[in-house]
Amino acid sequence: MTMTLSPQAALVAIDALRRHFAQRLAARRERPEIAAELAKVLALLDTVDFSRIDAERLEASGHPVVTQLQALPRVPSALARPTDAVLAAFLPHLDALPWRYSYAPRADAPDIGHRMAWAELVGPIAPFKSDEVCLGLTAIGPGLLYPAHRHPAVETYLVLHGTARWTTGQTTCPHPPGTLILHPSNIVHAMEAGDEPLLAAYAWTGDVHTLSEYLS
Ligand SMILES: [Fe+2]
Repeated sequence: MTMTLSPQAALVAIDALRRHFAQRLAARRERPEIAAELAKVLALLDTVDFSRIDAERLEASGHPVVTQLQALPRVPSALARPTDAVLAAFLPHLDALPWRYSYAPRADAPDIGHRMAWAELVGPIAPFKSDEVCLGLTAIGPGLLYPAHRHPAVETYLVLHGTARWTTGQTTCPHPPGTLILHPSNIVHAMEAGDEPLLAAYAWTGDVHTLSEYLS
């Protein structure tokens, strides 16, 4: 039986992310555009009513992406990296998250909808409702390419596990855990997981209602 994430556990994970973003902002080591976006995300999260929850949207989806995450420990080890506090809040609940994948099928990647997914905790159709900010987790199976896509929302990723090759615009480079990556509105981006699955937290601001789309 698949357990569903409790509202309390969801709030602990969201709080860990908010605290990590606040710490990164306070440390003043991020690029100005990333710092400005982190400040925006935090300010918008302050406007979310976390006392109201849509429990149905928290229900575990039983998505097969969890089989891609079997190499990850479900019990956190000693904290070694600053992002480990965030990872520790999510690890015990990876099997219980409301994972989903909503792109149209692709002939060149028939199994992609089983090997990657995202679980949104804050957003327009998330357990904690917001029309201005999204917060969630993206999982990509080992070796899988999340093909080039774009969306009007501004996106910030925080890598939690796995070093993927990230393409943002014309630039491709590996980003290890702890990296913050900013995708400006409508920039084309792609990620290719390495030998390990990629697990990364994301935040969206701006137009959070328009879905991401693959490039044709
Ligand atoms: Fe994106």
